[in-house]
Amino acid sequence: MAMLEGRVVAITGAGGGIGREIAKLCAAEGALIVASDIGASLDGTEITGGPAHELVKEIQTAGGEAVAHTDDISEIAGGEALLQTGLDAFGNVDVLVNCAGIMRDRMIFNMTPEEWDAVIKVHLRGHFSTIRPLSAYWRTQGNADANNRIINFTSAAGLNGNAGQPNYAAAKMGIIGLTYTLANSLTKYGVTANAISPGAATRMTAAVPKERLLYAEEGDERSPRHVAPIVAYLASERSRWLNGQVIDTRGYTLSLYNKPEPIRQIVGTGAWDLERMADIVEDVFQAAV
Ligand SMILES: NC(=O)c1ccc[n+]([C@@H]2O[C@H](COP(=O)([O-])OP(=O)(O)OC[C@H]3O[C@@H](n4cnc5c(N)ncnc54)[C@H](O)[C@@H]3O)[C@@H](O)[C@H]2O)c1
Repeated sequence: MAMLEGRVVAITGAGGGIGREIAKLCAAEGALIVASDIGASLDGTEITGGPAHELVKEIQTAGGEAVAHTDDISEIAGGEALLQTGLDAFGNVDVLVNCAGIMRDRMIFNMTPEEWDAVIKVHLRGHFSTIRPLSAYWRTQGNADANNRIINFTSAAGLNGNAGQPNYAAAKMGIIGLTYTLANSLTKYGVTANAISPGAATRMTAAVPKERLLYAEEGDERSPRHVAPIVAYLASERSRWLNGQVIDTRGYTLSLYNKPEPIRQIVGTGAWDLERMADIVEDVFQAAV
């Protein structure tokens, strides 16, 4: 049997590079797809519309089932409408994949408040706007044995830091903190939450100067198609054991991240003398960084 038979999977950014591949694979695996995409330009300033409807047609032509949602997911009303679209079309939503995104790159000293806010809004608030109504809905179901899934999208730009993407990196690390918190708070409603850090050639990476790209894959390995299998697995009932994790996927490689934890510790016996503290910090911490 297909891995996602009858599961309702809502995907934001489904009209774009990675989201589109996730939607197509999930549909091929038997999922009923809520394809959400506003049709935004890369910087989010123009709304071109259309890609969600085109994807729905493509999935239906291939024999799958899908419905389009085209509201702005950075607004809570857009997240509520996403849930309602799934309920109206399929009577449920089992899985939420938060893949929508925009970019407005600039060095920190040149960045405008508008560029900062726009990127934080689509990525970080976009996650809040979809997760809030979905988690409230799952809570009303009150089913700890359910197999509900939240799959968020972070980035190596946050995990490693990337010059020119301070707004994007901050949003993407905020998404990791959010994911850990969801993982710690929603299991009693049958929900797991994990984050994906992808690497793939899309319009997003095409806009990043080559020397700042954080992956080295060539040819077929750069296809966003290769991000889809781990997301489909996370969307399935089989992934129940996996919660609160960050998984990197680029080319044919999957990596599991550790959680940040202290690597050296100095325990004082009382208030620190500044000189003495400086000496010990240099002795103990400097070798570790
Ligand atoms: N491509 C990569 O290598 C890479 C690396 C790290 C992280 N990511 C993340 O993966 C996700 C997908 O990236 P991609 O490369 O496929 O990007 P993409 O630009 O190809 O697709 C993003 C999609 O999101 C949609 N979108 C933007 N704002 C929206 C809004 N307010 N409401 C609804 N839809 C909206 C766009 O219309 C677009 O179709 C993003 O979260 C991105 O930050 C991608």
